[in-house]
Amino acid sequence: MFSRDALILAPMAALTTPALRQLVKDFGGCDVYFTEMISCAALLQRGPYEGFYINPEPEPERLVYQLVGSDIEKAAAAAGFLEERPGLGVDFNMGCSAPEIVRAGAGVAWMKDPGRARRLAAALRKRLKTKTLSVKLRVGYEDDFGYLSAFCRGLAEEGVDFITLHPRIKKEKFGRLARWDYVAALGAELPIPLVGNGDVKTFVGWALKKERYNPGGIMIGRAAARAPWFFAFLRRREKDPAFQMRVDLQAVALRFFELLPRFQPADFLKSRAQRFFSWFCQNLAFGHGLFVSINNGKSFEAVKKTVLDYFTQHPDARYKTEKN
Ligand SMILES: Cc1cc2nc3c(=O)[nH]c(=O)nc-3n(C[C@H](O)[C@H](O)[C@H](O)COP(=O)(O)O)c2cc1C
Repeated sequence: MFSRDALILAPMAALTTPALRQLVKDFGGCDVYFTEMISCAALLQRGPYEGFYINPEPEPERLVYQLVGSDIEKAAAAAGFLEERPGLGVDFNMGCSAPEIVRAGAGVAWMKDPGRARRLAAALRKRLKTKTLSVKLRVGYEDDFGYLSAFCRGLAEEGVDFITLHPRIKKEKFGRLARWDYVAALGAELPIPLVGNGDVKTFVGWALKKERYNPGGIMIGRAAARAPWFFAFLRRREKDPAFQMRVDLQAVALRFFELLPRFQPADFLKSRAQRFFSWFCQNLAFGHGLFVSINNGKSFEAVKKTVLDYFTQHPDARYKTEKN
């Protein structure tokens, strides 16, 4: 499937598009790429945008589709549909805590009912003959390790191949640090690999989490959105402690503007560009002003012009050296 050393691109709504995955690949790629979450119901209705959500590029053999939904039969049917497509696996989202998702009985709401979550896992397993089945989840509604552990062991008994833990409870945002000690403790109890996820932002943070918590792979989200070269940086730095990576930010921005229309429908271009640049701007010393202008952009073309004008007006901002 993948090694314990695997680097995995996280599912991020409106961000983990094939355009971001291709940018990651341009720099050398990662071991497994997720899609953003895909609604089971919309997929089954063959909505107008579903073809874009399930585009497996740029490395279909390393792609995991992430499903989100609240209904076991629909989820199983969606998995059956994806089973026939290129790809490495299908993941089910039991971690999303966005209020509209939880209200609909999806995302982390699955963690309220271990028995029903098991029935879902069993139904998905039945449909996935050639693809991996995985679940991405949080600690749960409460900080209760025993509950989490029993929940995950139940999923493993139903044939889930691996689990990704983002060790925060439902109500926690990014302010509080992820509980990586839970990755170590849960990983030691499970008969299947446990991927750790949360707050990996530097080489030192990555190396320390690998060493200290022994995860069965590490998933990275926001740092890869800020820096699609982050996986490549980690791998090179691992070999050479003195390694620093000089990145041409303007070239990355241009490449993103070229890729996005290739992989996304016209209706999505503005919002996807705004979402990506909200993270990318963190590379720029005075990125906040740019971020505000981007968010006020009225169209994809306007967002593009704002970004390109910025680099014309601030030639000194063009290069960044990734050191940490
Ligand atoms: C903008 C954004 C969108 C996200 N969308 C999803 C999603 O679709 N499915 C999911 O399981 N998690 C989603 N997440 C959570 C991430 O996959 C990940 O668990 C979280 O960001 C912690 O990892 P990080 O610290 O490396 O970013 C999202 C996170 C962000 C920031």
